[in-house]
Amino acid sequence: MHRLTNRRLLLGITGGIAAYKSAELTRLLKGAGADVRVVMTPAATEFITPLTLQALSGNPVHLQLLDPEAEAGMGHIELAKWADLILVAPASADFLARLAAGMGDDLLTTLCLATDAPICLAPAMNQAMWRDARTQQNMDKLKALGMLVFGPGSGVQACGDTGPGRMLEPTELALLAAERFEHRALAGKTVFITAGPTREALDPVRFISNHSSGKMGYALAEAARDAGARVRLISGPVNLPPPERISCIQVESAQQMLDAALDGLAQCDLFIAAAAVADYRPVSIAEHKIKKGSEEIMELHLIKNPDIVASVAASATRPFTVGFAAETRDVVQYAQDKLSRKRLDLIVANDVSQPGIGFNSDDNAVTLVTSTTTETLPTTSKQQLARQLISRIATYFDDYEKTASKDS
Ligand code: C5P
Repeated sequence: MHRLTNRRLLLGITGGIAAYKSAELTRLLKGAGADVRVVMTPAATEFITPLTLQALSGNPVHLQLLDPEAEAGMGHIELAKWADLILVAPASADFLARLAAGMGDDLLTTLCLATDAPICLAPAMNQAMWRDARTQQNMDKLKALGMLVFGPGSGVQACGDTGPGRMLEPTELALLAAERFEHRALAGKTVFITAGPTREALDPVRFISNHSSGKMGYALAEAARDAGARVRLISGPVNLPPPERISCIQVESAQQMLDAALDGLAQCDLFIAAAAVADYRPVSIAEHKIKKGSEEIMELHLIKNPDIVASVAASATRPFTVGFAAETRDVVQYAQDKLSRKRLDLIVANDVSQPGIGFNSDDNAVTLVTSTTTETLPTTSKQQLARQLISRIATYFDDYEKTASKDS
């Protein structure tokens, strides 16, 4: 699973025997795509070495509040701001008590005071300590402060007792952490997304295509899935693995992409055209490889491809339709022209003349253009931008559905 791609997770480890499981948890979080930084309390280092966690997280482990070297690398306030989520696993009774009391007597409690990120706690302790009224009061207080509590589980404990207080398994904790990022803005909706380039064959070995990487369309598909949608990704040839829990249809030509887009379109609520479709294709595909001739100039006869997004927007069961526009100047004006010409609801416009964003790069910055509004989302990674875009598109879509139901 890559449900944590580009997420910044701060994993706090406190002193308890379950700390040995935090090594596996770090590995799982990293494997899910997260950037993991580990903070250990002094007691945690008695159970597992910082070196293990450094090797698994790929980042230096933060141990002390007043460590000049660590502060020079990433200061504690910077670290608190860096995190998208703080997960403390295991969270000992002592740590929970200090947290509930609002103390900042070590690095981890200080970070929890200084952060705006959600804090998730995975308690782990002896069953009697967990049942103790003071621990339970602390838990009530932490929950009232908005902190999330994962577990604890129940069963045989390291000390030989049986009862509640076992830390949840690393696989469960990694899933619960991933779920924190999944909003449900598109729950139950069906979303079709086109992505990547198309290939227009000239003969059995040659084609006309473009440099589209498909990264934006794939990131949008994952973000739509994480927002609760059923996603059909209609993809031209790209070097990306098909995302999990998404129906991925591989196509080559614009005609195949159109056929895949129109198939079952009546079930589609939201259509996002992120593909870089070839505008033209050869009039005919040579049956055999075209031979080099004696002439210096070779002429190709091309015919216009169908416009996929315009065909979708013109269909009888028209979904909410979103197009992309890559422009090098007068971005908003051209996007508005395209919006009305193709009868779209929304255009995601980007200025491809700016270096380092857009086509075939990892970052992007866009302007959302409707017939009445424009809204700019600044440069960020395509994954982050995809999540922001899906969240914004879901809002526009919601307004559209409300208006449609009022009109009918
Ligand atoms: O006209 P232009 O290619 O600039 O329009 C870009 C938008 O139209 C993108 O959303 C692209 O996916 C879509 N498009 C399409 N079919 C085409 C050409 C473009 O769906 N043949």
